Amino acid sequence: MFIQGSTIGDAETELFNINILERLSLSKIEGLLIRPLKSGDYDRGFLQLLTQLTEVGNVNREQFLNRFHMMRTTGSYYIIVVEDVSIGKIIASATLVAEQKFIHNCAMRGRLEDVVVNNKYRGKHLGKLVVNIVLQLARYLHCYKLSLDCKDHLIPFYESLGFKREPSNANYLNIRFPNENTTEQSHL
Ligand SMILES: CC(C)(COP(=O)(O)OP(=O)(O)OC[C@H]1O[C@@H](n2cnc3c(N)ncnc32)[C@H](O)[C@@H]1OP(=O)(O)O)[C@@H](O)C(=O)NCCC(=O)NCCS
Repeated sequence: MFIQGSTIGDAETELFNINILERLSLSKIEGLLIRPLKSGDYDRGFLQLLTQLTEVGNVNREQFLNRFHMMRTTGSYYIIVVEDVSIGKIIASATLVAEQKFIHNCAMRGRLEDVVVNNKYRGKHLGKLVVNIVLQLARYLHCYKLSLDCKDHLIPFYESLGFKREPSNANYLNIRFPNENTTEQSHL
């Protein structure tokens, strides 16, 4: 059963308008709900899922909601989640950040961020599914390109989805700013 919109918690706020997803061609998967992140996803294990990607820290409900509403206000964050309806848990997610530019006639650049699938659900093409949704969304929003950073071993995964390393333009440089509140530096 594929449900767009939720049967529970309809009073919750969505990060972005779900109607946008209805304009894309989404795969229908029995028992899974594909939708925008909602304010109530704090209780559906969204942050626990992100810990399978990188360190999250002790984010309380108030911090989560503050960040959620900040993201919602900017209108530039499209966090897609997949909910396993039978257990009411978020089991996969990917984010499109739509970056506003002056260049290219005030164009928009897309950035693919925070792709993660719960380890119990991996190998079932859910990673492919969430990245493909972000791809469609970036096209729908007229982004002129969609970029990502990833570890070497994931290059084949993203290449299989159409991403290409561009010769002479494939460098990725960072300056990391140590955070006094964390003992270990995250590498994502
Ligand atoms: C990377 C990740 C999202 C893939 O999710 P998944 O649901 O297991 O992937 P899929 O089942 O959609 O795989 C799609 C294809 O990519 C391949 N693939 C998946 N993970 C891969 C990996 N780590 N390396 C190489 N290929 C990979 C699969 O074999 C599959 O190939 P097929 O189409 O020929 O069958 C998941 O492993 C994950 O959440 N990892 C931890 C978080 C992370 O590293 N995220 C990426 C940050 S850039």
